[in-house]
Amino acid sequence: MFKRTRRLRRDENIRSLVRETRLSKEDFIYPIFIKDGENVKEEIRSLPGIYRYSIDRLEEILEKVEMAGVKGILLFGIPKEKDEFGKDAYSDDGIIQRAVRKIKQISKLYVITDVCMCEYTNHGHCGIIDNGDVDNDKTLDYLEKIALSHVKAGADMVAPSDMMDGRVKRIRKALDKEGYANIPIMAYSAKYASAFYGPFREAADSAPKFGDRKSYQMDPANVREAMLEIAADIEEGADIVMVKPAISYLDVIRWTRDRFDIPVAAYNVSGEYAMVKAAAKLGYIDEIKIIMEILTSIKRAGADIIITYHALEAAKYLGGGQ
Ligand code: PBG
Repeated sequence: MFKRTRRLRRDENIRSLVRETRLSKEDFIYPIFIKDGENVKEEIRSLPGIYRYSIDRLEEILEKVEMAGVKGILLFGIPKEKDEFGKDAYSDDGIIQRAVRKIKQISKLYVITDVCMCEYTNHGHCGIIDNGDVDNDKTLDYLEKIALSHVKAGADMVAPSDMMDGRVKRIRKALDKEGYANIPIMAYSAKYASAFYGPFREAADSAPKFGDRKSYQMDPANVREAMLEIAADIEEGADIVMVKPAISYLDVIRWTRDRFDIPVAAYNVSGEYAMVKAAAKLGYIDEIKIIMEILTSIKRAGADIIITYHALEAAKYLGGGQ
């Protein structure tokens, strides 16, 4: 006798009864790029279907997200001016601070802000430069200010993506001290120095002007080191940890899920999205099937939360709308 595993694959009814992983639109967080200026809605060349919006045009996309049944958004800002110390990142009048105040007035979405400096510094690095390298401890002073200013503006959660050591601890301490003990931190804990961020850097004009990010973002070859990063962030007070990118790092997501009991987020990043869109445009793949397969694989690997530019199209496919 041999095992007839095909018995449970005979039709969609039985397949759906034994299905182990189910995607839901509640799994998704949708990233939004917000640009200083007026009446801006411009498509990002390398991210077809994704736009930069000015604050006065945000309502349109917020409505789409709500209609799709996606609950959370992750905000990135593109300031009018960049400088050495990324002032717009922590100014109460910065692009994100103004945007959050507006979003909180006009929508019910859960607002998460990316806490980093690379979109705001004229050198494009994620921190303060000293002697040609990013100075970890000086940068912490700024990250603390950025996170606090986002939360003061009304952010529901902050997500530090800079990869400085000790930033979760400093941000947690600052938030607690100012009366924001209930605001969670989603730490970009295992964030790799990846070429998959290319389209994002074009979108946010945030590529480093010299060198690269390898002295702070992780080596793509390492997974044990990712566990050290994650353990450290949990110890420092992270409420959710993130693995980024997602598709080439499914093993890292699985290791994280197996070793830690806190929620795990995965960031299906810009380059991953761009490859799907490019291949679809050329007619090489069946786009929506590829998207659903990719997102399912990220969830199957162990992610509870998936940050993805595909959120709206995937939600629609899953029966988005209310
Ligand atoms: C900021 C940041 C980046 C991304 C998220 N936050 C870019 C980077 O680290 O260079 C990338 C997201 C994506 O590629 O979709 N540090």
